Amino acid sequence: AVNLTGRSLLTLLEYTPEEIEYLLDLSFEVKRESRAKVVHRRFVGKTLAMIFEKRSTRTRLAFETAFAEEGGHPIFLSIQDIQLGAKESIEDTARVLGRMVDAIMFRGFKQETVEILAKYAGVPVYNGLTDTFHPTQVLADLMTIKEVFGRLRGIKLVFMGDGRNNMANSLMIGCAKMGMHYVICAPKQLHPDKNLLETCLKVAAETDAKIEIIEDPDKAVEGADVIYTDVWASMGEEDKQQEREKLLRPYQVNEELMRKTGKKETIFMHCLPAVKGQEVTYEVIEGKQSKVWDESENRKHTIKALMIATLL
Ligand code: CP
Ligand code: NVA
Repeated sequence: AVNLTGRSLLTLLEYTPEEIEYLLDLSFEVKRESRAKVVHRRFVGKTLAMIFEKRSTRTRLAFETAFAEEGGHPIFLSIQDIQLGAKESIEDTARVLGRMVDAIMFRGFKQETVEILAKYAGVPVYNGLTDTFHPTQVLADLMTIKEVFGRLRGIKLVFMGDGRNNMANSLMIGCAKMGMHYVICAPKQLHPDKNLLETCLKVAAETDAKIEIIEDPDKAVEGADVIYTDVWASMGEEDKQQEREKLLRPYQVNEELMRKTGKKETIFMHCLPAVKGQEVTYEVIEGKQSKVWDESENRKHTIKALMIATLL
């Protein structure tokens, strides 16, 4: 039996396929409860510290509402409010937080920061997005895919755009773990990090997953079940916006590209926020194949499931 009590979520690499499956099952249960308006008070007496170096709508709302409606007390902390790495080391902040709260969520720049928090806090730490990874988003994405297709194994997901950003990285991990067929479709300059790719290929060898890097969009999307994209310049990369617009224009998800999958059932996904007219056209994101609103709702269910699994 799976027991995740006390565990952090830093990259998703540290979770087995069985553990991910367990989190998804629990997420579906939490969603059913929510639809049936069943109220639980599973986090009464517990406190969650949420540290934000970057902005957030979905991740903050998902953690904060999921924790509070179970009777817990979430605390929003921006770096204007606390000493984190500025006047106090991250290690020391982690140790103090660990003495006062039951769990910590971190959203920010360096992956190293969330790793240090987890090393020193002594309580579960959840990665709510760093420059490198966005694991809680991938849980919601896997849930959404399972909701639509009834399975994950063998599903072909094509990620279009910046093949080295946090979403491209985390989807590669999630797809490898769950035996999916993952394609990054990106220009050479934006292909994934070699070390991460090697790590994921090792995982894929054990799960029968397939990972491909393809430059040509027409070739990449053939037979795709899911077309996924994300912003061309991520938070912290505002200075790269213009160069990315030039480089990634051919990788825009539009109706023509959606047709090239050759499948009517192909769905469109995006972690959001989206820049309509850039990485995706208005027609596609607002169209019938788009699952982006279910996907964003599922952030809350998966995050609640993660906290139930690791805190109780
Ligand atoms: N998808 C996502 O993480 O959204 P936010 O940046 O609004 O949290
Ligand atoms: N790649 C995007 C994801 C936002 C949820 C960013 O980091 O800005």
